[in-house]
Formats: sequence, C-alpha cells, structure tokens
Amino acid sequence: VSSDAYPTQGFCSVDSNLESDCLSGKILIKGGTVVNAHHKEVADVYIEDGVIVHVSPNIRVGDHVRIVDATGKYVMPGGIDPHTHLEMEFMGTVTIDDFPSGQAAALAGGTTMHIDFVNPINVNLSAAFASYMNKAKKSVMDYGFHMVITKWDEEVSREMEVMVKENGINSFKFFMAYKGSVMINDEVLINGLERCKSLGALAMVHAENGDAVAEGQKKMISLGITGPEGHALSRPSVLEGEATARAIRLANFVNTPLYVVHVMSIDAMEEIAKAKKSGQRIIGEPVVSGLVLDESWLWNSDFTTAAKYVMSPPIRKAEHGKALQDALASGVLQIVGTDHCTFNSTQKSFGMDDFRKIPNGVNGIEERMHIIWDSMVESGKISVTDYVRITSTECAKVFNIYPRKGAILEGSDADIIILNPNSSFRISSISHHSRSDTNVYEGRTGKGKVEVTISGGRIVWEDGNLKVTQGSGKYIKMPPFSYLFDGLDKVDAQYLASLGAPVRRTAAAS
Ligand code: URP
Ligand code: ZN
Ligand code: ZN
Ligand code: ZN
Repeated sequence: VSSDAYPTQGFCSVDSNLESDCLSGKILIKGGTVVNAHHKEVADVYIEDGVIVHVSPNIRVGDHVRIVDATGKYVMPGGIDPHTHLEMEFMGTVTIDDFPSGQAAALAGGTTMHIDFVNPINVNLSAAFASYMNKAKKSVMDYGFHMVITKWDEEVSREMEVMVKENGINSFKFFMAYKGSVMINDEVLINGLERCKSLGALAMVHAENGDAVAEGQKKMISLGITGPEGHALSRPSVLEGEATARAIRLANFVNTPLYVVHVMSIDAMEEIAKAKKSGQRIIGEPVVSGLVLDESWLWNSDFTTAAKYVMSPPIRKAEHGKALQDALASGVLQIVGTDHCTFNSTQKSFGMDDFRKIPNGVNGIEERMHIIWDSMVESGKISVTDYVRITSTECAKVFNIYPRKGAILEGSDADIIILNPNSSFRISSISHHSRSDTNVYEGRTGKGKVEVTISGGRIVWEDGNLKVTQGSGKYIKMPPFSYLFDGLDKVDAQYLASLGAPVRRTAAAS
C-alpha cells in the first residue's frame, strides 16, 4: 500500500457494519500521532492480516477497510507486561486470574502481550512448561514465558538448554526469598548465572534476603504483631538492598547480564544505579504498585483492605515510590511491570491471624498503562516516546522480540493502542475485568484513556466493549542472545589475557 495506490471512493467508516463488511482484517488508523520509542509523527497506520503494512501520512485505501479516526490521539505499540502470574499455584492457593481473564483485563487496559512465569512445583522444567502451555491454550492475546529455577542438578542444567533451544524461553528467574519453598541459595544462583550466560539467557532475580526475612517474621510474631503491617515490618528495604547488591556482584563475577524484578526500594535502586555506573549490564524493573502506592495501607484497621496490599518485596513509604519514578525517568530503571498476581478477599483471609499466610500479590495488568500515563506523562515527568519505551519497546528488546513487538513499524505485529490524552479513567473492582473482588487502585482516577486496543490486527477493545476470542493468542518464542550479550565474550577474552602465564611454583624445601 502506498500513499496513493488505491482509489479514494468506497471507504468504510467507523460506523460501517463490521460483521459483514470488514472481515477482511484490513484496518486504517487515520490522523493520529504515531509514537515509537525513537520518534513520533502524525501519520496513518495501515494493517492487514495482523501485521502493520504501512506507516505514512495520508495513506489512501480501497474498499473493505475499516477506518478508525485517531485525530488528536496517540497511536502507540500495545503494552508488554514483563511480569505476570496467571493461574499460578502459590502459598497454598492459585491466583484468581487465569489466562483468559487476566488477558481480557490486560487488553481493556492497553496491554497486548505479557510474559508469565512458569513455576515448576515438584516437576521437571519440561513438565512445568507443558502444563503452562496447556493453561495458556485459551489465550486471547500473545504471551511468552520466563522459567523459575528452584534447585540445581544435572537435569535442571540440561533442561534449561531444552527450554532455550526448543521452547522459546530466554530468561530464568531465581528467588532469593520465600524460604522453605522456592528460595535458592548462592550456590544455585552462581550455577544458574553461569548456565544462563552459556545459553544466552537472561537471569532474573527476586532480590530479598530470605533467611533474614524468616527471622524478621519470627520476631514480629513473637512481638504479637500478626496483622498485615507485620509483613512490611518483617522485611525492611535493607534486606532488598542486600540481596540486590549480592545478585549484582555475583552477576559481575560471572560477567553476565542481570534483570532485577520488582525493584521496590531506594536501597535496591541505588545498588542498580551504582552497578550501571561502573558499566555492568543490569535491567531494573519497578512495578506499578511500587511506583504509586505507599505502605500506609498495610496499617488499615480493616483486615480485608490491608491484606490486599500484601506483596513481596513490600510496598514501602511514599519516598521510595517517588525515587523509583525518578529512576525510571532517568533510565536507571528501564521497564515497568505489574507483578499481576491476584488473590480475592477470601484467599487473602487465609492470613487473618498470621500475616505470613496472606497470599502475596496485587493486581495491575489492567491498570499499568493508565496509571503510568497519568502519573508520569501527564505530570510531565517523562515524554510520550519514553512512555512507549518503558511500557513496551525496551521489554521487547530485552527479551529479543523487537521489532516484531514493541514498535509501530512496517512488518511489526499489529498490537496497537489508541490513547486519548483528553479523556480520563476511573478504576474500580466493579468495572475491572480481573476476576478479583478487590483492586488496590480502587477509586483512582486520572487523565488519559485507552479507547481502542488492537491485538493481532483485530479491534478487541473499543467504546468500553471487549470482543475477544479464546485461543486467538499466540505463544511468542523468544530467542536467546539479546543485545545485552553483545561483546561479553570480548570482555572474557580480555580477562583471560590479563591473567598471563600460569605461575610456576617449586616445591617448598622441608
Ligand atoms: O508478592 C508477590 N510478588 N507475588 C508474586 C510472586 C513474586 O514474588 O513475584
Ligand atoms: Zn468494508
Ligand atoms: Zn518475585
Ligand atoms: Zn512476581
């Protein structure tokens, strides 16, 4: 399609009958400001069969093309959420959003791809992967997987290779907390980092000192502090800083890149900043809850209200969120996730008498794009191009699926949102699409509204209506050796050369 390849008569308008008239899969988004991480311009976007075919001002098209007017609005790559837990077995229960419900929420909020964590519980990696592929069969949008490593042996090492070379997984997560369940020790982490490096896979860490957290929890219980505030008090930010620093130093020792998930504190952020300043390749992921909420909720006298804010690492004092926003604006942190891990109030009530039993996790998959727009773009903290970078493009680059994802370029997947900066949003558990009966952003309002979501070339969210098809979402394989791995071999070679010849030693005379 070129700007004048087709006659101009016979347009379909927004009002045309979609069912009968525009099943062709052809859409023209007209007159919006098309935003990529590198550039923005007023242009039209022409889509055919799920792919962006043409981006240019004044595209003319023929018959049977659905025209969507985006004048005065932003046309941006759909969000990619790097961190979700759908239908995950965790802390004796299962997250309440499964793939179709969590993804419906995502689409209604302008996110068109997510990367979930395969959590192998008492099974090997292959069986865990198969089980997650099965859970994701009814997907309504594209998705990928990270894999959690919970122990170390020959089989795990061998299977990591299978995951990378055959199953499209290019990242592995290590939990430095949750003692007695998924927590690993430094030996496992070092082995894992080495293996990740050899496979070109990105190591990710949940960075909290799990041994110290367990001690902190015992201390709170012995003091009679059993409510949700005990969660925050038992795992202060110093424990997040310690584990972040340790993981960073071990990644440095191995010379491999590191991705720190859910950075929740100044302590952790400053460790990342310091490492990056010295040239280390670290990706820091703040999550929406850590950017805009504060810990005071955990002291709420109503248990149900307080318990919904329990996640790990904990939501902290407001100064942490502000510093994390600044770090995101300056590039110290690069990708915003959600850690969407929802439990309803019945599940949260398992910890009524003991905060250690409150399932950890908050919602966010539907709210991320709106809250980040409102709190960071609308406030003037970041540019619109930076918004695209932190919500979509950088994630696509780090997980090596750019520019298929994360861009509005010819040949990219047609995962697109149209955001009206003059409209507004309001969040409530009454209207949200998650299955949870609560929302940690209940009542929050702000400027900017995702009015249209296009997923795989289809309009799935428009005028407040969701039209999704179960099974339409595709599994996106993510190849190893992203840009983060470029040149590491040269640094290794320089290091080896610097060692010089082996030292010869004579036997000591006795
Ligand atoms: O509280 C949280 N973050 N729940 C999900 C599991 C994890 O640590 O990511
Ligand atoms: Zn038509
Ligand atoms: Zn975690
Ligand atoms: Zn998580």
